[in-house]
Amino acid sequence: MLYQLSYTPVTGCGRIAARPGGQDAIGRNKAPRPAFALQPVHKCKGARPMALNSLKDVYLDQIQDLYSACKQSVDATAKLGRAATDDELGRALAAGSKGIADGMGQLEKLCSDHGIDPNGTHCKGMEGLVQEAQAHVHDAEFGADEVRDAMIITQYQRMVHYALAGYGCLVAFANRLGLDGDGAILQECLDQTYDGDKRMTKIATTGGVNADAA
Ligand SMILES: [Fe+2]
Repeated sequence: MLYQLSYTPVTGCGRIAARPGGQDAIGRNKAPRPAFALQPVHKCKGARPMALNSLKDVYLDQIQDLYSACKQSVDATAKLGRAATDDELGRALAAGSKGIADGMGQLEKLCSDHGIDPNGTHCKGMEGLVQEAQAHVHDAEFGADEVRDAMIITQYQRMVHYALAGYGCLVAFANRLGLDGDGAILQECLDQTYDGDKRMTKIATTGGVNADAA
């Protein structure tokens, strides 16, 4: 059994376990326990243990996190594309969604090479960004289509920048670990993600979306 020092123990499935103390089954208050105590680290089927002991562990953990982020953002990006009025913006978002899917394929390959489940974790960060895109674009009211387009770009770029951070760190980890093949694959994903981000900035600025929305 693995143990970690924790106040709110987190299971290997990403769930927060019950806090110490509280009430028992018939409503009596239990005696408070120490704020910090060794708690067992649980594992669920297919998940790696929570204890990360090396840069390699961090690397694999973050591959899974980025895969989860891509999995959530791929459909959200396509949905933004369908909501866009500007033709070039719609095309760029469709291409962005395809690029995310291509990146997922590469991450799946890396997971297979390292013997880990790509679906081993859930990215809460991207979950929040997708919720933001839903709230600020799809659930919001706009007085003009051009204004919606400007909002679409900013929401998309929030998601893209999360992926840039993810790929950038993975490249650095792979290179430090001497995983040259991984590093080359991840660098290509990073470059393609940068290209998508730059294309979006161009559409917003010189492409005229922001000017039309002003
Ligand atoms: Fe994440």
